[in-house]
Amino acid sequence: MIAVRDIAYVRYQIPDLDAQAEFLRDFGLRDHLRTATTLQMEAWNGGYPAYIAHVGPAKALGVGYQVDSLEQLQHIATRYNSEVRVNDELGSGWIVQLQDPDGLRVDLVHGATVIEAAPVRAPLQLNNAEERRRFGTTNRIKVQPSHVMRLGHVVLKTVNFAAMFAFYQDVLGLRVSDSYYAGSEDNTVAAFMHCGLESEYTDHHTVALLNLGATEPGFDHCAFEVLDWDDLSCGNQFLTQNNRRHSWGIGRHVQGSQIFDYWLDPAGNKVEHWTDGDLVNDRYAVGHEPLTPDALAQWAPPLSPDFLA
Ligand SMILES: [Fe+2]
Repeated sequence: MIAVRDIAYVRYQIPDLDAQAEFLRDFGLRDHLRTATTLQMEAWNGGYPAYIAHVGPAKALGVGYQVDSLEQLQHIATRYNSEVRVNDELGSGWIVQLQDPDGLRVDLVHGATVIEAAPVRAPLQLNNAEERRRFGTTNRIKVQPSHVMRLGHVVLKTVNFAAMFAFYQDVLGLRVSDSYYAGSEDNTVAAFMHCGLESEYTDHHTVALLNLGATEPGFDHCAFEVLDWDDLSCGNQFLTQNNRRHSWGIGRHVQGSQIFDYWLDPAGNKVEHWTDGDLVNDRYAVGHEPLTPDALAQWAPPLSPDFLA
């Protein structure tokens, strides 16, 4: 058993890498590496490249996860009949490559956090009616791409929920934070899972599994944490001004409590900006609630038709 520390990157196949890079810059990522057939984009917090794409028909390929030590990588390679390799793709560190029951590539990586963090403005100090935090200074920011600080989570549309649910708990050490059911309580239709780091607090979900009758495995969406609420809102305005395709938002989710905003990339993939998410640890009381029409958001504009497509 290992416990992954966090998500590292998402990996897609994308038909037009130039158009994708242009969109991702507008979305708030930064250029990292480009070859004739691949694209790597980085977040402002550095670390691993947060987004990897290979040229080809649009398709979700897999996800990378950070593991704390080379020993853990060796342990999992031995257990799952794989091998620890030098990570040639990222130019340093090590990788174990597995496959989940849906056939998505699962990279477990260690030691290749080579990208320096880039400087960003300090998060805005917000006054509220109860607590004043800003004295004699102003809040002034401009409309520009959001600052994507890091990749936060991925939501997988699974065709084999029971096996996927077991894999992400047993192999990656994820733990359930909250889940939804439809009809009877044993019919789980969504499971939100956090990294099993015992008492250490981590995102409410790093992986979520959707069991809603998908015929093809893939990503529902991947989600990137931005600097703060104003950064998300300015990014919304910037993307709107640049005629990018909006999906749904701005709103506040229920499970995870994030302020969210969803966009569609040129290949039609759904990508999320979020900020102000819940943090949980392994002592968090696991929730199991019925899936209701208002289960997705506490407040938001009406759900867009494409969102659940
Ligand atoms: Fe999300």
